[in-house]
Amino acid sequence: MSISTSDLERVIREAGVIALDYFKALKHIEITKKAPRDFVTEADVAVEAFLKKELTGRYPQFGFWGEESGKTENQSSRWVVDPIDGTHSFSKGQYFWSLSVALEIEGEMEFGAVYAPAFDDYYWAQKGQGAYKNGERIHVSSETNLADAMVSTGFACLRSYLTDNNLARFCRIAQVTAGQRRLGSAALDLCLVADAQVDAFWEQELNLYDVAAGALIAKEAGATVTDFKGNPGIFPKQILVTNGKVLDQILPLM
Ligand code: IPD
Ligand code: CA
Ligand code: CA
Ligand code: CA
Repeated sequence: MSISTSDLERVIREAGVIALDYFKALKHIEITKKAPRDFVTEADVAVEAFLKKELTGRYPQFGFWGEESGKTENQSSRWVVDPIDGTHSFSKGQYFWSLSVALEIEGEMEFGAVYAPAFDDYYWAQKGQGAYKNGERIHVSSETNLADAMVSTGFACLRSYLTDNNLARFCRIAQVTAGQRRLGSAALDLCLVADAQVDAFWEQELNLYDVAAGALIAKEAGATVTDFKGNPGIFPKQILVTNGKVLDQILPLM
């Protein structure tokens, strides 16, 4: 599978410039609510349109699935794109949001990139070839003690969560870890595990476009990517990503 990772970086960084232009003019852009707690702005739509045009133009053999425009015909090998992950934060002028682009071929994530334009941090990975942040190789943390660990989550008291007692799960974890974070962009949360900035991340009720790229980057940086029972794989509806050294301590709490 021949893709140009340097050309993809150029395209994704260019999409980041488009996002930043909107970010600098927030007062003038329209923000609408697709569903409770799910917002979309003109920036999400414009960034996705740009990425769709550039990616399908360069690689017509791959389909496209974007959060805002949906799925094209070919879904066996496809770009999986979240044009802005963390739209609510973006709309408030916060910096913790990102663009997420993954290439899935026959069910396997082959390439993933998460770009945070406000920090100018570009994370990327290709299957089997390691994970990088701004050109430097990155690895998960060496933290072995959950009591000293920092755990991030996208936890929310959504009605669907309450049936699975998510609040109790959050409290169990919060009681035994040194710190929790709810940062607002699942794609970037996953990159922070890859970059040893947090030691584990968990969330429920995500979609593949939220996690496809970040999960590959985390895995290539040495993270475990499982469901809440420890089964390996990318499970957007129930994802747990750790530095591997605290997995056995956190699983009983999930
Ligand atoms: C959201 C972010 C957030 C997560 C939400 C997602 P969006 O993505 O990833 O961190 O907790 O569940 O929907 O909607 O801003 O692309
Ligand atoms: Ca959304
Ligand atoms: Ca998202
Ligand atoms: Ca989004």
